[in-house]
Amino acid sequence: MLTCIEIRLLTDRDAAAYWHLRLEALEREPQSFGEAAEEHRQTSVELAAERLAANPGDNFVFGAFQQSQLVGMAGFFRYPIAKARHKGRIWGVYVGASCRGQGIGRALLAALLERIKACPGVEQVSLTVVTGQEAARNLYCSLGFKPYGLEPRGLKVGDRYLDNEYMVLKLSQLGH
Ligand SMILES: CC(C)(COP(=O)(O)OP(=O)(O)OC[C@H]1O[C@@H](n2cnc3c(N)ncnc32)[C@H](O)[C@@H]1OP(=O)(O)O)[C@@H](O)C(=O)NCCC(=O)NCCS
Repeated sequence: MLTCIEIRLLTDRDAAAYWHLRLEALEREPQSFGEAAEEHRQTSVELAAERLAANPGDNFVFGAFQQSQLVGMAGFFRYPIAKARHKGRIWGVYVGASCRGQGIGRALLAALLERIKACPGVEQVSLTVVTGQEAARNLYCSLGFKPYGLEPRGLKVGDRYLDNEYMVLKLSQLGH
């Protein structure tokens, strides 16, 4: 049950909490994300602040807060080039392990999708889920995302290969 959770857009003032939660995600769930924790460690809180402050119209991150603590996040960016501006990607979906199963992931995605729907001209949104991430896949399917392709060995984590499944949601079909 979702109790005492605040879902809101992150701003540059949330940069430190965002940077640390992203590092936690990459360290604890390396099989779920394309970026490596070492790559994230080479970025800075200042850079995160710049990104969270820049262009919130087409590029934003939602956070879930429990007792003022950032416990979950989900990001979106819109492709900037003219022929791809009708679409964007969801990235970085993560809820801390101790907070899962309470509806936070669903609430984050719902808020993110509402915000994406408000972007004039954005018609569809895609994402990638690594095979085996059943919780994430179930969540996306329940929101109407449809798989459209599988890339065998799309990620290599240590010696292990993982497949990428690509999914897309037409915003006109949201909630149907
Ligand atoms: C995917 C993730 C964000 C879900 O967050 P969450 O807060 O636990 O999700 P919710 O409680 O809102 O559940 C939403 C839906 O996800 C699915 N789900 C959640 N936990 C699940 C589990 N353990 N097994 C199967 N499906 C599950 C269900 O469809 C659920 O809907 P329901 O409760 O109506 O059945 C979280 O598990 C996570 O951070 N996983 C690790 C990182 C990851 O895989 N990120 C996705 C990268 S593509």
